[in-house]
Amino acid sequence: MKIDAVTIFPEYFAPLKLSLLGKAQESGIVEFGIHDLRSFATNVHNQVDDTPYGGGAGMVMMPEVWGKALDPLMSAQSDLIILTPAGRRFDQPMAAKFSKASHLVFACGRYEGIDDRVRQHYLSKNHRVHEVSIGDYVLGGGEVASLVMIEAITRLIPGVLGNPESLAEESHNQEGYLEYPSFTKPQNWRDIPVPEILLSGNHGEIAKWRAAQAIERAKENL
Ligand code: ADE
Repeated sequence: MKIDAVTIFPEYFAPLKLSLLGKAQESGIVEFGIHDLRSFATNVHNQVDDTPYGGGAGMVMMPEVWGKALDPLMSAQSDLIILTPAGRRFDQPMAAKFSKASHLVFACGRYEGIDDRVRQHYLSKNHRVHEVSIGDYVLGGGEVASLVMIEAITRLIPGVLGNPESLAEESHNQEGYLEYPSFTKPQNWRDIPVPEILLSGNHGEIAKWRAAQAIERAKENL
């Protein structure tokens, strides 16, 4: 999979070199391209934003700069993802869908967002365009939201996780976010013992216990 991100802060994407994502890139399963929006600025001040038509606070990112950055990236294989708190909420099923895509392009807006004609233009050219939010809170921009999405999506691509069984187990657990509590050595820590059932070796009973615990935990965190 190819993943491109367009941003005025390319440094935000340094973590892509680490851990799982770094390894996925080294092994050639994913390829990341980070593009500095400012390098597509058209005036001498490298300006990327301007005041909103109709008035109001804040600045809006200018469409011409975005068009110049996105045109060379977009093809029939591309899904354009525009990060905005007004977008559709990102969740595990959405991550699973995007993990089957061949090319994702993340447009990281700052300020009050990107001139809406950018979205309209790529839609009118029959591109797949998605406005996505990672949750009901407002971030300073789409960079961290892109990283969240990239990590959740990339780990679902076959070959990225060292142990594919953990994925199989996750999807078995209702879309992957129902998780039972986990324990490791020592058997007793600060007077808290590991639940007896986990030491029993009875895999059927352990599976039942874990399922019940996962439901209990999900209820508590509602
Ligand atoms: N940009 C600002 N806040 C955001 C959010 N919650 N999700 C995606 N992009 C954003």
